[in-house]
Amino acid sequence: MQGIIHISAGQCGNQIGSAFWQTIAGEHGIDQDGKYHTTTEIQRDPTGAPEGRYHPRAVLVDLDPSVINTVRSGEYGDFFRHDNMLSAQYGLGYNWAYGYFDEGAELVDQVIDVVRREAERSECIQGFQLSHSLVGGTGAGMGSLLLDRIREDYPDRMIATFSVLPSPKLSDVVIEPYNATLSMHHLIENCDKTFIFDNEALLDICNRTFKLSDSPYNHMNQLVSRVMADITSHFRVAGQLNSNMRTMVTNLVPFPRLHFLTVGHAPLTGGDLGAETVHQLTAQSLVRPIFDTKNHTATCDLHSGRYMSCSALFRGRVSMDEVEDEICSMKSRNSEYSVDRIPDNIQTSYCPVRPKGQYQSSTLIGNSTAIQVPLKRIGEQFDFMFRRKQYLRTYTMAGMDEMEFVEAQYNMNDLIFEYKDVQGGTELA
Ligand code: GTP
Ligand code: MG
Repeated sequence: MQGIIHISAGQCGNQIGSAFWQTIAGEHGIDQDGKYHTTTEIQRDPTGAPEGRYHPRAVLVDLDPSVINTVRSGEYGDFFRHDNMLSAQYGLGYNWAYGYFDEGAELVDQVIDVVRREAERSECIQGFQLSHSLVGGTGAGMGSLLLDRIREDYPDRMIATFSVLPSPKLSDVVIEPYNATLSMHHLIENCDKTFIFDNEALLDICNRTFKLSDSPYNHMNQLVSRVMADITSHFRVAGQLNSNMRTMVTNLVPFPRLHFLTVGHAPLTGGDLGAETVHQLTAQSLVRPIFDTKNHTATCDLHSGRYMSCSALFRGRVSMDEVEDEICSMKSRNSEYSVDRIPDNIQTSYCPVRPKGQYQSSTLIGNSTAIQVPLKRIGEQFDFMFRRKQYLRTYTMAGMDEMEFVEAQYNMNDLIFEYKDVQGGTELA
């Protein structure tokens, strides 16, 4: 199986990244010291661990050392290679320009060297995945720079991102729309697929479904890691439909720029999420919720948009005959929610290996025109500030040109227009 190198950038990227690695290590029967223990349902790599233990193909970077220090001294600290953890002295206080041009640019060569070393350790690399927030100085600014550099150095490999959008309920930094739009500019150009995790949607799921009020990030990150484990189970278990990053992009992304995906997941209980243990679920209770906006990671009414394509993945003890019947009836009831030009655009796949701590799960990866709604919200906030030239000095002081703002604004507006066009000319509010 071809490898994927995971890069975690910034506080959010590293917290999500380490939750993801812990989840999939558990699924593969690998402990915090990288030792393989039990016979799990996932086949072991027949070559075994090269150094008697497994290390994740992960690179951890944050200009602020505190989060990386926490990972290093935490339970899974020795799971990661310590020389794959890179940090500077300070965080960037949400300044995108410092991450892209200034301190980030000073560290980027070291990060790329580590990425290259990881790539050389593997027989063959199919691509890269980046976890980050779209508004932090490191995750967004340096994350964008890393995407540009990786695309330049590995033009024929796939790049995916797990990108977190901000929620005003968790952070309310006035320049967030600038950072998110500037990051989107780089994601549109240099990334093949982006899984959108809107903190607003994640928080809503946590509050509504789990009735949790304390430390929301832990629960939100558990949810993200569970979804990431499902998405990547395609690549980790042999014989799946979307068995590598390239086929997944081919199946899900009919127009290369329109690669911003939303993810629906069920059940939203069990495992580490809430106390309830989930037993056998019916096909209906696995299929219906993943088409429900309330179970999705982006804040937009999916029924107001149209699906260009979707991929539904089922794991664990599931009767696929019953699932296929349920999907068929969903299709016929909801045919108006698909783009006319691309009929029969829901694929299903099955992974027998159950998710950690659960009997089964389902995940829908959707490429829907409704994603234009959160993007439009950010674009409008950007336009409002940029028209008045607010806070530009913060960026120009770090060596950034105003033209970069203009280009990012055009690119974002063009993208929203393209979604509208596929939708059939209708603008979504
Ligand atoms: P600098 O600190 O400016 O260098 O950048 P950074 O990349 O470290 O910033 P950070 O990752 O803290 O980005 C801030 C955004 O990420 C805000 O919108 C936060 O709400 C969100 N965020 C921070 N930590 C987490 C987390 O663990 N989970 C989730 N889902 N969001 C987070
Ligand atoms: Mg930080």
